[in-house]
Amino acid sequence: PLIRREDYTAPAYWIRSVDLTFDLDPAKTLVVNRMQVERNPAVAAQALRLDGEELNLTRVLVNGDSVSFRVENQQLVLDNLPETPFTLEVRTTCAPEKNTQLSGLYTSGGGFFTQCEAEGFRRITYFLDRPDVMATFSVTLKADATKYPVLLSNGNLVEQGTLDGGKHYAKWVDPHPKPSYLFALVAANLVCREQKIRARSGREHLLQVYVRAGDLDKTEHAMNSLIASVAWDEARFGLSLDLDRFMIVAVSDFNMGAMENKGLNIFNTKYVLANPATATDADYAGIESVVGHEYFHNWTGNRITCRDWFQLSLKEGLTVFRDQEFSQDLVHSPSARAVKRIEDVRTLRQHQFPEDAGPMAHPVRPDSYVEINNFYTATVYDKGAEVVRMMQTLVGRDGFARGMTLYFQRHDGQAVTCDDFAQAIADANPGSALATHLAIFKRWYSQAGTPRVQARGHYNADARTYTLELSQQGLPSPGQPTKEPWVIPVAMGLIGPRGEHLPLQLVGEDAPVGTERVLVLHEERQRYEFTGLDVEPVPSLLRGFSAPVLLEDHLSDADLLHLLAHDADPFNRWEAGQRLALNRLLGAIRTGQALHLDAAYIEAMRSVLRHPTLDAAFKELVLTLPSEGYLAEQLEEVDPQRIHQVREAARLQLAQALHHDWEWAFETHQVRGGYSPDPVSAGQRALANLALAYLCLGASVTHDPVWPGRTYQRFKDATNMTDRLGALSALVNSHAELAEAALQRFHALFRDEALVIDKWFALQAAASEKDGRVFARARQLLSHPDFSLRNPNRARSLITALCFMNPAAFHRTDAAGYVFWADRVLELDAINPQLAARVARAMDRWKQLAEPYRSAAREAIARVAARAELSNDVREIVTRALAD
Ligand code: ARG
Ligand code: ZN
Repeated sequence: PLIRREDYTAPAYWIRSVDLTFDLDPAKTLVVNRMQVERNPAVAAQALRLDGEELNLTRVLVNGDSVSFRVENQQLVLDNLPETPFTLEVRTTCAPEKNTQLSGLYTSGGGFFTQCEAEGFRRITYFLDRPDVMATFSVTLKADATKYPVLLSNGNLVEQGTLDGGKHYAKWVDPHPKPSYLFALVAANLVCREQKIRARSGREHLLQVYVRAGDLDKTEHAMNSLIASVAWDEARFGLSLDLDRFMIVAVSDFNMGAMENKGLNIFNTKYVLANPATATDADYAGIESVVGHEYFHNWTGNRITCRDWFQLSLKEGLTVFRDQEFSQDLVHSPSARAVKRIEDVRTLRQHQFPEDAGPMAHPVRPDSYVEINNFYTATVYDKGAEVVRMMQTLVGRDGFARGMTLYFQRHDGQAVTCDDFAQAIADANPGSALATHLAIFKRWYSQAGTPRVQARGHYNADARTYTLELSQQGLPSPGQPTKEPWVIPVAMGLIGPRGEHLPLQLVGEDAPVGTERVLVLHEERQRYEFTGLDVEPVPSLLRGFSAPVLLEDHLSDADLLHLLAHDADPFNRWEAGQRLALNRLLGAIRTGQALHLDAAYIEAMRSVLRHPTLDAAFKELVLTLPSEGYLAEQLEEVDPQRIHQVREAARLQLAQALHHDWEWAFETHQVRGGYSPDPVSAGQRALANLALAYLCLGASVTHDPVWPGRTYQRFKDATNMTDRLGALSALVNSHAELAEAALQRFHALFRDEALVIDKWFALQAAASEKDGRVFARARQLLSHPDFSLRNPNRARSLITALCFMNPAAFHRTDAAGYVFWADRVLELDAINPQLAARVARAMDRWKQLAEPYRSAAREAIARVAARAELSNDVREIVTRALAD
C-alpha cells in the first residue's frame, strides 16, 4: 500500500500520557499499557485505530471495563468510545528473542534493547504510532536481577527495588511529551563510564556511556565527544541539555548507526567503542560525528519533531548539517575544516548523486512511500543537509543562528513540517536572498534529481570586463518529467594569471565587493558582468561546493592546473586535481586506448605532494584518484571491468612516476609518541599509509622485496589500528604471500574483537580485484565460522564491501556477483527485511551497465522480485528498479 504525503490528516484521538509495565522475558514479555486518551475535537468522530504488529492481545479495558474490539489490518479498532477523556488499558505479549528484524523489542547478547523509529513501537504495544501524537511516558521494567542488573528507560529514575523470584524493578518517568518513536528501554548486564558536567547554564547533568563489561576501556572517546557536543550546542546555537541524565547504550546488533531516543540514545557498538589498538582514525571521527548527531537531535528532532514521516529531513537534514558543522568547528585550521568538507562532499557524490539519478530518486521531502524505512536515504540525510547549508549561505552564519532561534520560539514542543523550518529561517532574515526567493528555494524539497549548472565565461580585454553566464537544467526523475529552476548559491572568485585573486565588481556597482562572493542563480539563465579587469581571469566556481549540483564549467586543462596551484579555496583546489584525473581516466575509458598520465599531470601531483605548507590530510585527498563508483557516474554506459583496468593503470603510473616522492612522503610523515586521533596526526597517518600503498603497488611490478618487507614489519609492530590496517591493506592489494600471513595473524590477534573482525572481512571483500580471486574469496568467507547474516555489522562487512564498494569484483561477465547478491537478499529478507532492502539497493544503477552485465543484472533482480513471500521493504526496492 502506497502512503501519500497529500493524504495527511490529523489524528482522530490524542494520547496524552502512557504508563507502561514490562515483565521482561526473552520468550514471552508481558506489556501492560495504560493510556490517557481523548478525542481530537478538530476531527470528525470516528473509531480509534491503534497500530500493532506481531503482538498477542490478551485484554482491552476502557475506564476499567472490558469492551468489545476487533483487530483488522494490523490495527486494534475500538468503536463507541466515551466522548470525554478516558483510560485505555491494553495487555499484550511479544517474543523478543524471536525478533530478528531488530525493530521493536529484541534481545542481543543476552540483554533487551529497543529500536522504535520509524514504526517499531507498534511491535511493542498497540498505539497511535505516528510522530504527531506526543505523550508523557512512565515506564516500569521488571526483570531477572542477575541476568539484567541494569534497567533503563527515558527520563528520570524515580523508583527501584527488588521483587519476588529473583527479580527487580525500576520505574522511569520522562517529563517531556514525546512521540512513540523516541521511546526506548534497555535491560542488560552492562557497566558504565560516567561523568558529571556543569553546563554554561549552571545546571548539573550526569552523562553515562553503557557497554558490556570488557569494553569500558573503549568508552573514553565517546564520552569526550558527548561532552564536546553539549558544549558546542550551547555555544553555537544557545541550546542547552534539558535533562538531568543523558545516557548512551552500545549494542552489537543494530540496524543503523544510532538512535536519538529521549535521554537514552542507543548506539551501534561501531559508533561507541574505540581504543587506539582496535579503532582507526576514521572510526574515531565516525564516533565523534554520530555521538554529536544523536545528541543534537535532542533539540532538532525531539523538542521539535516531524508532523509525519514525509518530513523526515526536517530533523535528519538539519541534524546532519549540525553534526557536520560540529566536526568542522572542533578543528581550528581552515584547511582541516576544508578536509572535513571535502570528505562530506565525497560522501554526497558517492551515495546521493547516484540515488538522485536512479530508480529510487525522490525529493528531500518524498511524496509517497511503501515502506518508510526505505527512505532513510542519502537524499533525506545528506542532500537534506546541503539544503540547510544553502540556507545558511543565503542568510549568513549569524542570520542562520537567528533563524534557528525563531524556529524554536515558534515550534518548541510541536510536530512540524519542512515548510515551517524554511519559513522560520526566512522570516528571521527579511530581505535576504532566501526570503526573496523562498518559494523557488523550496523546490529543493519537492524536486528530485541533481541540477546541472552550465557556466561560460568570456573576457573582453578592450572593455576590461568578464561576462559569466550561468544556466541550470534538471533531468526527469521517476514521477517528475520536468523541472523548474532551483535557487542555486554559487560562491565564486576570479583568479589572475599570477595566481592573484581579483577584486569582484559587477557593472553598476560603485566598488569591488571583496575577492569572493555568492551569486544567486534563481532563473534558468543569468548573466553577470564583472568590470575593472586588466587581465583574463580563470573562474573558481561553486567554492566549498556551495550547492549540490553538477557543474559543467568548460575549464581547460591549463585552467584546472592553474586552480590546483593557486585557488585560495581549498575545496576547489582539490576539485581541480580530481577533474584533471577524471579527464584523463574518462578519456581512456571511453576510447579504449591505453592510459598514459602526462608529465604535466604528474608534475602537478608531485608539487602538491611536496608542497611546503599544505596539510598532509589535504594532500592525501588530492592524491587519491576518484573512486570507480564516481567514475561510473560520469559515464553514459558503464563497463566496470574497463573502469577498474584504467584506474589501476593510473595508480600504477602514479606509483612509479612518484616513487621517490612516495618514499619521501612515507619517511617524513611518521607520527611519533602516543596515539591521538586529532586531525593533524590523522592526516599524517593517512598520507603515510597512502604512500605505503603506492610503494607496495610499485613493488608488485618490480618484485623488489624491500617495501613489502618493511610493510609487513610495520603491520606487525603497529601500535594503532590505523597503521596496522593501512599496512595490511597495502599488502592485501599487492603481495599475495605476505597478505596471507598478515591476514591470519590479524585474525588471531583480534578474534575476540567483533568490530575488528568486521574490518577483517571487509578488507578482503573490498580488495582490488585480480582474475576473480577477490570474488572467490568473498564467496568462501560466507562459510567462515565467524560469518553470520544475523548480526548486521558482520553481514554488512562482507556484503556491502563486495556489492557496493568493489565494482570490479561484483560485476562479472559470468554474473556470479549478481547471483551472490540475489541469494543474500533473499536469505536476509527472511531474517531482517530492513537490512535486506539496503543490500537490495546495490543494483540501483543496473540500467547504466553495458552488456552482458545489464541483462544479467535484470535477470537477478527479476528473480528476487518473483519470490512470492517478499517483505514490503525489498518489494518496493526491486519493483522500482524494474519499473519501465
Ligand atoms: N534517527 C536515527 C538517526 O539518524 C536513525 C533511525 C533510522 N531508522 C530507520 N528505520 N532506518 O540518528
Ligand atoms: Zn538522525
